[in-house]
Amino acid sequence: MENSFQALTVDKKGKQFSVRLNRYTVDKLPDDDVLIRVRYSDINYKDGLAGTPDGKIIRTYPFIPGIDLAGEVVSSRDPRFHTGDSVIATGYDIGVTHFGGYSEYVRMPGDWLVPLPKAMTFKQSMFYGTAGFTAALAIQRLEDSGLTPSQGKVLVTGATGGVGSLAIAMLSKRGYRVVAESGKAAAKDYLKQLGTEEIIPRFKVNDGAIRPLAHQQWAAAVDTVGGSALAVVLSQIKQHGSVAACGNAGGNHVPATIFPFILRGVSLVGIDSVYCPMSLRLKIWHRLTNDLNISDQSGLISKEITLRELPDQLTDIIKGKHLGRTLVKLC
Ligand SMILES: NC(=O)c1ccc[n+]([C@@H]2O[C@H](COP(=O)([O-])OP(=O)(O)OC[C@H]3O[C@@H](n4cnc5c(N)ncnc54)[C@H](OP(=O)(O)O)[C@@H]3O)[C@@H](O)[C@H]2O)c1
Repeated sequence: MENSFQALTVDKKGKQFSVRLNRYTVDKLPDDDVLIRVRYSDINYKDGLAGTPDGKIIRTYPFIPGIDLAGEVVSSRDPRFHTGDSVIATGYDIGVTHFGGYSEYVRMPGDWLVPLPKAMTFKQSMFYGTAGFTAALAIQRLEDSGLTPSQGKVLVTGATGGVGSLAIAMLSKRGYRVVAESGKAAAKDYLKQLGTEEIIPRFKVNDGAIRPLAHQQWAAAVDTVGGSALAVVLSQIKQHGSVAACGNAGGNHVPATIFPFILRGVSLVGIDSVYCPMSLRLKIWHRLTNDLNISDQSGLISKEITLRELPDQLTDIIKGKHLGRTLVKLC
């Protein structure tokens, strides 16, 4: 391997914040058991937060962000992994307190690695990344709560985002009737192509009026927005339906009442892609090569960028300008 390699570094000194490419040597990486040559990474909302001065994600600077990566094992002190193995790493402390995937080389603990499924390429795995993994985990948890396509429409909020878009495509592939809630009027065609049956503008789902119980419309929901949107969605879920709470793009405070839970038996399922147990993690990656495989979905927008193009793209995702998935090719 080369003596030095490139990585994206975020740094903060007083009020000075920078996001730029730097050269590193392997001895500057954390001393974990598995050294990996990274082939692909991607961009998630959390990466956007890492790339902004007030993101409150990174605690120690300078830091290499990137919560997802896929690549080949270069060397390993962990007997479960060998030189040349193809692996995926998402979640845990990656790109938050542990140097992440925006780097040509990384070192990771073996416990955080998932073998790349045989039917998947590096590029496909990062087309999913944490966003796709989270969407699939949300569907798994909703189905564990009893959801089937015959029960009615499923609402997806924050529909044009990474988690939202992938959830729509996966639900639609599974035969669900999907309704998309989106703040982007111009994205109608995109959402239709993903398999959306109906599109609701953001203000219609959350018009500011939060009733304890509202007209029962959705068998289930994948919510990526949180805040008052989640409170409204809960009030609209059908008897014994369920909501997978994935994100907080719209806020942290959820002004809901107890009534959807005690009068309609609604379940609120929390989605945690970060510390998801390994047995469930392997099951979800397996489903992504089988019944939830949407890598041939031509309607899904994905673009590929290099490390050099990353700084601008990281700020765009925070401004809500992103559509679909952005992959980062490292070599
Ligand atoms: N629980 C987990 O394990 C997990 C894993 C991954 C992500 N997440 C969280 O899930 C959320 C979505 O992640 P992502 O990667 O899909 O992000 P993303 O690509 O930025 O998508 C978020 C979408 O939410 C909508 N949105 C943005 N700002 C909003 C606002 N102020 N009010 C209402 N809607 C807003 C936008 O969609 P429209 O314009 O179409 O409305 C946006 O595209 C984030 O909060 C992220 O932190 C959680």
